[in-house]
Amino acid sequence: MQEKKIALNFISAHFSELDIQDQDLITNAKEAFSTAYAPYSGFLVGASIFLENGEMINGSNQENVAYPSGLCAERVAMFYVGAKFPEVKIKTIAVSVFSKSFDVTDVISPCGACRQVMAEYEDKQKQSIKVLLHSPNDQVLIANKVQDLLPFMFKSPHLKKY
Ligand code: THU
Repeated sequence: MQEKKIALNFISAHFSELDIQDQDLITNAKEAFSTAYAPYSGFLVGASIFLENGEMINGSNQENVAYPSGLCAERVAMFYVGAKFPEVKIKTIAVSVFSKSFDVTDVISPCGACRQVMAEYEDKQKQSIKVLLHSPNDQVLIANKVQDLLPFMFKSPHLKKY
C-alpha cells in the first residue's frame, strides 16, 4: 500500500492582469449570460469558447421545469462546438456567472459533468484547453488544462468503437 498525492496547478489573477484575448473571451462569456434561461435558479451562467480558427462560440445555462433536463452553460457551448466545428481545436473556455437573486462572490467552478465533457474534448483533440473561471468581482482562476480540474476523469478505450 502506498499513499500518493496529486498536485493541482492553477493561477489566481485579476481580470486586468490577463492578456487582451483572454479578457475579450471573459467579456463574451459575461454577454452570454443575457441569453441564459434560468427561471428556476436565478443563477445566470455564460460560457465562451475560443477556437483555433479565431471563432468565439457562446453558451448559457438552459433550465427546464423538469429540472434534470436542463443543461449547464459549459456543455451547451461545448456540444455546439462539437456539432458545428468537430475538426476545429478548442483553445480556451471562459465561464462567468451573475445572479440578481443573491450575491455571488466566488468564481464559478464547473460541475463534474461539465468537467468530464471538457476533459474528453481535450483528450480527443490531443491539445490542452485553457479554462478561465471568472467571478463577478473580477477575480479569475486559470487552469492551463482541463485535466487539472479533473485528474481522475472517466476514460475507457474499450467503449470507443468508432
Ligand atoms: N450551472 C452552469 O451553467 N454551470 C456550472 O458550472 C454550474 C451550474 C447552472 C445549472 C443551473 O441552471 C444553474 O447553474 C444552477 O445550478
